[in-house]
Amino acid sequence: MEYMIETKNLTKKFEDLVAVDHINLEIKKGEIFGLLGPNGAGKTTTIHMLTTLLRPTEGTALVAGYDIRKNPEKVREKIGIVFQDVTVDRNLTGYENMWLHGKLYHIPKSELKGLIKELLEFVELDQWANVILRKYSGGMLRRLEIARGLLHHPEILFLDEPTLGLDPHSRAHIWEYILRVKKEKNMTILLTTHYMDEAERLCDRIAIIDHGKIIALGTPDELKSMVGGDVIYITIERSDHRMKVLAEKIVESGISKNIKPVSPRVLAITVNNVSEKIPLIFDVAQNNDIKIREVRYTRPTLDDVFLRLTGRKLRDEKGSWVDIARMRRQIRMARRR
Ligand SMILES: Nc1ncnc2c1ncn2[C@@H]1O[C@H](COP(=O)(O)OP(=O)(O)OP(=O)(O)O)[C@@H](O)[C@H]1O
Ligand SMILES: [Mg+2]
Repeated sequence: MEYMIETKNLTKKFEDLVAVDHINLEIKKGEIFGLLGPNGAGKTTTIHMLTTLLRPTEGTALVAGYDIRKNPEKVREKIGIVFQDVTVDRNLTGYENMWLHGKLYHIPKSELKGLIKELLEFVELDQWANVILRKYSGGMLRRLEIARGLLHHPEILFLDEPTLGLDPHSRAHIWEYILRVKKEKNMTILLTTHYMDEAERLCDRIAIIDHGKIIALGTPDELKSMVGGDVIYITIERSDHRMKVLAEKIVESGISKNIKPVSPRVLAITVNNVSEKIPLIFDVAQNNDIKIREVRYTRPTLDDVFLRLTGRKLRDEKGSWVDIARMRRQIRMARRR
């Protein structure tokens, strides 16, 4: 099996709407792969097809080597899922939710107790094991769902918007767990998000999805290099002919060919790797007896990539409030259920 997930023209139509439009992805073992796209892009629909909850209209996918159309029950054995909506039971404790899930997956009683303990410790909820979920925060519910998703030893974990609507602190916490799941359990993870920082922090590779289509695919650095490189702004001590000398020497040394003066003392140098190039620029300056006073740099964001590809911003700032309202509503509903 070359890939853990391989989609082949995977497509879902809802009447006239093509929610997922012939997508082809190849995801390797141990990879964190992100589907990044705005609201309504088709992320959840893709996850629902890959986890066998929705039947594709056209095309198919192999998940852990099994065809989602032909062997859905085999696929389900191999995967763990954390849904976009909160799905744990508010009337039960964390431990009870885990127990119920273990029973659904026929995990032997003798093994289950130890497993639950280990996983609750993994997400640092062991102290909360016997507390009813109504008392959990949104971030804690998410952590419990991740632990639950890992209970039956899946080979692939699907995370649909793992930090939707959480505060920055809880989000950073969840990111840590996701990175640990990858590292300590060598898990393949497919996650969806419309947060650029999340995609960038977590994903080895990202597919940008819009209107059901994959419009770009690559590592975060590869995607960002589509909109030009990083720009380093160098301010030199005095404005004289030496700025021209510095620019020439930087070109000669092969650091960058794209150099522009932006003021009498400031050079803008476009490079493909800031951390590698800044020390080289300092070396060139020193060798030519030129004093650098200040260094700044800017790097393109994934939002710039999305803007370049679609002419739209990935999300407006108000979006985050929509997410928070949505998450709160979900938690309230889960509490009432
Ligand atoms: N059961 C359904 N019936 C009809 N249309 C649907 C159904 N489920 C999703 N859609 C539509 O398909 C499109 C893709 O929806 P999907 O939920 O996959 O997007 P998403 O990328 O997960 O968005 P979000 O960021 O809001 O979660 C949307 O236009 C949505 O309205
Ligand atoms: Mg969704």
